[in-house]
Amino acid sequence: MTSPLFPTGEEGRPKQEQDEGVPTMTHSLTIEPIGETVAVEDDQTILDACLRAGVWLPHACGHGLCGTCKVEVVDGEVDHADASGFALMDFERADGKTLACTARLLSDATIEADLDEDPDARRLAVKDFPCSVIGLEDLTHDIKGVHLRPETGGMDFQAGQYVNLTLPGITGSRAFSLANPPAEADHLVLHVRRVPGGIATGHIHDTLKLGDRVTVTGPYGRFFVRKSASLPMIFLAGGTGLSSPKSMILDLLAEGCAEPMTLIHGVRARRDLYDQACFEDLAARHPNLRYVPVLSEPRPGDEWRGETGFVHEALQRVFPGGFAGHKAYLCGPPPMIEACLRTLMQGRLFERDIYTEKFLTAADAGGGKVRSPVFRRL
Ligand code: FES
Repeated sequence: MTSPLFPTGEEGRPKQEQDEGVPTMTHSLTIEPIGETVAVEDDQTILDACLRAGVWLPHACGHGLCGTCKVEVVDGEVDHADASGFALMDFERADGKTLACTARLLSDATIEADLDEDPDARRLAVKDFPCSVIGLEDLTHDIKGVHLRPETGGMDFQAGQYVNLTLPGITGSRAFSLANPPAEADHLVLHVRRVPGGIATGHIHDTLKLGDRVTVTGPYGRFFVRKSASLPMIFLAGGTGLSSPKSMILDLLAEGCAEPMTLIHGVRARRDLYDQACFEDLAARHPNLRYVPVLSEPRPGDEWRGETGFVHEALQRVFPGGFAGHKAYLCGPPPMIEACLRTLMQGRLFERDIYTEKFLTAADAGGGKVRSPVFRRL
């Protein structure tokens, strides 16, 4: 998946400025209702400028397809650029709406955005981090652990957030969740599954080597633990969707969190399961952590005595009395997410207590091109 912010540029900077040395103009953007003003370069999107200034705006696809980032331009002129006609209809354009992820400023401007104040969200500006590859490990037959050291200081982030990774010689960037806890800001870890035919994941699996330089841009995302709630937590992960819950759980345990936590990690077969020893060890040392690996298609010879079936089926068995009074964090492919959402809601846990990366189906996007942000990490 290409970068949601700069699909054709490198390292998150405006392409024109990088490639041609042409000076860029800067416009001033005021964001209401918070009244903050940020600088926006003339080939930079409103969304990128805001995120790099530490101002979070709602967004999902990052490509002008879903409409999540719609804002109202109350003053000034914008170029809607690649906004899809489905995500931004003609009457909305006429009404002064635009999509922050595609719109460029043609003058100083003021926008009105639907900002969601979250007491657990930290204000963290998106930045570019040149990194060296300091470790590569085979986690399974098709998942690699990639260890990176930022060369200009550690990345401040919240457990559960993701980054965009730019690889040398490969156009665009790919998004991956961070699997390390924020306390290890100078040693970033990504879990990368080889996507059949995928250029970037193929490069990571076949070509990337120790000492190579890559660029990480981030942090992104609103998938983080609502620590202020002080409630028992359920983490549901499918495949490499484990990376965010791993970061979250390591972070919570390091802080001495005593709330009960349950991690259910679903994979197909024994050969797809990873970090089992890590979580078994954590669960042995922390009585408030319960770890439940579950295989949906154990293979002959797996000799598996643990849970079998899908994540939502294991979830039902592990919580026969329902889920009321919990917070749930879901990370995995859309079918897993959808099945788990149904199960959680049937068990009396509702939207306000369920957190997941917002994902889109092709039908949602109207253009057939969008894949879930959750997919980007699988
Ligand atoms: S995030 Fe802008 S249209 Fe999807």
